[in-house]
Amino acid sequence: MTIEAAFYDVKPYDREYFDKADGAARLARHFHEFRLSAETAASAEGARAVCVFVNDALDAACLEKLSASGVKLVALRCAGHNNVDLAAAKRLGLAVVRVPAYSPHAVAEHAVALLLALNRRIHRAYNRVRDHNFSLDGLVGFDVAGKTVGIIGTGKIGKIAAQIFRGFQAEVLAHDPYPDPEWARRHGVAYTDLARLLAASDVVSLHAPLLPDTFHLLKADTLAGMKPGAYLINTSRGKLIETSALIEALKTGRLGGVALDVYEEEEGIFFEDLSGLVLQDDELSRLLTFPNVLVTAHQAFLTREALAEIARVTTENLLRLEKGEPFLEGTAL
Ligand code: NAI
Repeated sequence: MTIEAAFYDVKPYDREYFDKADGAARLARHFHEFRLSAETAASAEGARAVCVFVNDALDAACLEKLSASGVKLVALRCAGHNNVDLAAAKRLGLAVVRVPAYSPHAVAEHAVALLLALNRRIHRAYNRVRDHNFSLDGLVGFDVAGKTVGIIGTGKIGKIAAQIFRGFQAEVLAHDPYPDPEWARRHGVAYTDLARLLAASDVVSLHAPLLPDTFHLLKADTLAGMKPGAYLINTSRGKLIETSALIEALKTGRLGGVALDVYEEEEGIFFEDLSGLVLQDDELSRLLTFPNVLVTAHQAFLTREALAEIARVTTENLLRLEKGEPFLEGTAL
């Protein structure tokens, strides 16, 4: 029997890599450009698995509809799983798998790219030079060497980001409720508490997952505890930062620069071409007016290596569902 799998929120690059991963066409795949939610769950009728991304909304109502229509597996083609009600999935007997580490390098390197672009004003210089404006006024940056970089969350991605910054000869502080002292010793990284990290860091990069206790980790009081003029990079999840407080910190000049690959209310905006439309999100619109804010639309994961690995692991798990074999190690939630 061929496994029927319904894919949601599919972009052309997803299709390309999933086609390569299932070269022998062993799966019957239905690709949908729209997102999966309780409202669209009826489209999974006949499928035994759904394959979803970060902005599909698998709340209890959605999962109940999927389960009732015969779906057995939710395959996330991402690492984060805050958009799936895992307790409801368990209650309904739905298996959930994800791709825990497709390329931590992709995300860590993007965090560093954002910092360098923002600090050295590459985004502004690019536009200027294309306009034949070769002046350097307003493009002064700083050396990363010798600065203090604070890494919040030293899992797979945070560790690589820390190591890259050590390569820049920066001092690296880290905060994580589950520290890895042996790794820190090897790489010359010093763990500290959140308040000290925020107070001492010239650059803070977020790599913690979205959990109840990391929701709005950076809000008015924690932002006020950051070093004046510090740069803040978020490639993790938008809801780690309270956007209204971030805008205030930018308006007062408290923060030197902010680079975001994720945004609190990105759902329905990021990954879409809204050019020519009126942007309805006032906070994102405000953020985009600051010269010292750089926003990318959740593209940190988007490398060839990461897409190939996501497609390989997910396709293998879908085939294992068909064969009744255990899922790939470390992928089941
Ligand atoms: P991981 O699970 O390997 O590491 C997360 C680390 O955060 C763990 O060491 C954990 O102990 C730590 N942590 C938990 N609560 C914390 C807290 N309150 N303060 C500080 N640290 C805390 O995850 P990985 O693979 O490093 O990914 C990190 C996050 O990056 C993911 O949760 C995901 O949200 C985000 N991500 C973003 C992508 C993008 O394209 N922008 C792509 C992939 C992941």
